[in-house]
Amino acid sequence: MDSLSVDHLTGIKHLTENDIQLIFKTADSFKEVINRSIKKVPSLRDITIANLFFENSTRTRLSFELAEKRLSADVVNFSAASSSVKKGETLIDTVNNILSMKVDMVVMRHPNPGAAKFLSERVDASVINAGDGTHEHPTQALLDAFSIREKLGEVNGKKVVIVGDILHSRVALSNIYCLQKLGAEVMVCGPTTLIPKYIHELGVKVEYNLKKALEWCDVANMLRIQLERQDIKYFPSLREYSMQYGLTKKILDQLPKKIVVMHPGPINRGVEITSDVADSDQAIILDQVENGVAVRMAVIYLLASKIKRQ
Ligand code: CP
Repeated sequence: MDSLSVDHLTGIKHLTENDIQLIFKTADSFKEVINRSIKKVPSLRDITIANLFFENSTRTRLSFELAEKRLSADVVNFSAASSSVKKGETLIDTVNNILSMKVDMVVMRHPNPGAAKFLSERVDASVINAGDGTHEHPTQALLDAFSIREKLGEVNGKKVVIVGDILHSRVALSNIYCLQKLGAEVMVCGPTTLIPKYIHELGVKVEYNLKKALEWCDVANMLRIQLERQDIKYFPSLREYSMQYGLTKKILDQLPKKIVVMHPGPINRGVEITSDVADSDQAIILDQVENGVAVRMAVIYLLASKIKRQ
């Protein structure tokens, strides 16, 4: 059987193109499984997975849990808000206590960039990064690229613009790595204050005018403004941001071609995207969510196949 080049999924940066294609091929078969009347396979009956969420989540958390259950793994959930982390327990102590209950794999969302890699180097379990601060969100990028491939046939050669809060976005960084590894051209677009200074080192185009960016692209990935990570003001007001960078149906209808609209969620309707765009037939936002389960099943399945069963 083909296998991944990594034992953990801490970021897209560490994956090869072959890894990503293998994840997609495996996700294709799992997508077929989750659309059957019996949506489960017995593949991981001997695996126990802990979902550790130190930050809020709706999509990623539910999607991982469903993916694990569809693979018949045993699942335990941990939420920092109701745990002994509140009493001062460290990350490593918390995880080692969970692992001593014979857990094989840890899925972790954490506010600190690098937390998943840090953990993977210190615990005896396979680690999947479910978002580490402003750093990476690898499974989001995989499901985004999988959704582009599904909609447009392939990712290679496609032009993708990522719009909005690039500075604070783990989705942006993981998408840039993933799309480039698959041969797409990537542009970022947003206010100067929300484009990081190191962006040119990543080999992406930069455009500050939304209309020009949309005229260039095949796909627009509209990011949420991450107010919770902004300790200073990066633009005068949400209203002004929306006037410059919000995607409306009027703008969409004036473009020379029909582009695909994506959003990782949660959506701030009326800020980065209007409701008529979010609910239009050009938006594949709910397809992204559906594909998230199949893609996460593939990642978990492929990493589990590298764990030595006792
Ligand atoms: N896209 C995403 O990561 O959403 P959640 O924060 O709800 O998991």
